[in-house]
Amino acid sequence: MPYLLIVLAYLLGSISTAIITCKLMGLPDPRTIGSNNPGATNVLRHGGKKAAAITLVGDLLKGLIPVLVGRLFDLNYNWLILIGIAAFLGHLYPLYYRFKGGKGVATAIGVFLGVNVYAGLAFVATWLLMAKGFKISSLAALIATALSPLYFWFITQHIWPTLGVLFMAVLIFWRHQSNIRNLLSGKEDRIQSKEGADP
Ligand code: G3P
Repeated sequence: MPYLLIVLAYLLGSISTAIITCKLMGLPDPRTIGSNNPGATNVLRHGGKKAAAITLVGDLLKGLIPVLVGRLFDLNYNWLILIGIAAFLGHLYPLYYRFKGGKGVATAIGVFLGVNVYAGLAFVATWLLMAKGFKISSLAALIATALSPLYFWFITQHIWPTLGVLFMAVLIFWRHQSNIRNLLSGKEDRIQSKEGADP
């Protein structure tokens, strides 16, 4: 059963909420505009708040649902994080889009909430606080991501889920290379919606 769940999680993670939402709403393909990232922040910039909210929730559920299904089967932390990583890798390297996916933050939040709700909420709280302070999505995500292995270690005291979260954190940083360059040169965009005002 866990192996089947891992495969199904990858296939679910491979579905791009951003691309499908924008297509259905007649909005520009997020891969061809702005940061070219099929994620909620880029959809917010060029598609608006509604499309961004759907993208955020959809990407989060891709990570959360497979892990919760794993919980239904009483799988332990080690299996849960493996299932979550499969969904996360699906988002980053999607089967249906020539393995070119997003940066993984929303899907990681879903995985974290599913594996340990307190550590997941600590991530969300950090993201919200940093986003409120700096008003830069990538910076908020990178700070919350950097702290996430520590949250998991102190809250769960389990090494494998913590190492799994560390692996995801490294990939999120890897995926944010262009954002990090922009942050260092002061050119990173602030959070802004198509509608104009800060969300
Ligand atoms: O989660 C993605 C976000 O951190 C950055 O998105 O579009 O600004 O590259 P973007």
